[in-house]
Amino acid sequence: MSDGQTQSEFSIKTHRLIIRPWRDQDLEPFSAMNQDKEVMRFTPGLLTIEESNNQIAARRKEFENLGFCLWACELKSTGEFIGSVGLTIHDFKAHFTPAVGVGWKLVRNHWGKGYAIEAAAFVLQWAFSKQKLPEIVSITSLLNKKSIRIMEKLGMTHESKDDFYHPRVSKEHFFSRQVLYRMTLSQWEEVSPKLIKDFVQSVNLRS
Ligand SMILES: CC(C)(COP(=O)(O)OP(=O)(O)OC[C@H]1O[C@@H](n2cnc3c(N)ncnc32)[C@H](O)[C@@H]1OP(=O)(O)O)[C@@H](O)C(=O)NCCC(=O)NCCS
Repeated sequence: MSDGQTQSEFSIKTHRLIIRPWRDQDLEPFSAMNQDKEVMRFTPGLLTIEESNNQIAARRKEFENLGFCLWACELKSTGEFIGSVGLTIHDFKAHFTPAVGVGWKLVRNHWGKGYAIEAAAFVLQWAFSKQKLPEIVSITSLLNKKSIRIMEKLGMTHESKDDFYHPRVSKEHFFSRQVLYRMTLSQWEEVSPKLIKDFVQSVNLRS
């Protein structure tokens, strides 16, 4: 870990959320989220309890090895687990890989509250300032409008020539065609002050 922080001390605190390492108590709500058809609509399928637990184990290992992963996310006010947000390595074969990607997945009854954009903005801020990453990407199905909206609201940029077929998804799947959004450090330095300021105002007004 950077900054002399241990894994258990690590957290990214936003106005309403805490993004933190995985705990055993997350296994159950994470698995329930991975069994929700609507949440899993643009993925190859629902996860069994075992697959879901393995995913947490893999993320814990990734955090240990890389200093980041797709972390757990909880509500500051109650400690309730609301999903997973963070960074991951895309190492499959594609024109833009290997690359670090920002991603999000929330429990359905916490959609529509602005939590995904809030968490993602702070993860990007952390990634550019602490990890000094030169570029962060985000990928999703061309049809995943909610996720694409978050990428656009974050100020990430998209060129259709970057779109690709995910090599780990069969071409017949309706979600195999993926969009690629990019954010460079210099773009982030330009957009982040306004984004964070607007975002704080929107949270103050609406929550
Ligand atoms: C993608 C996903 C996280 C988006 O969730 P979401 O609730 O739409 O996103 P946010 O939490 O940022 O909420 C945004 C909406 O909340 C509303 N909102 C309510 N209160 C708000 C507040 N205080 N601040 C900002 N937005 C607020 C806004 O109306 C906004 O909608 P808009 O963009 O149309 O204006 C969610 O749909 C999900 O988990 N999907 C399944 C997993 C997935 O597909 N992940 C991506 C795979 S790559």
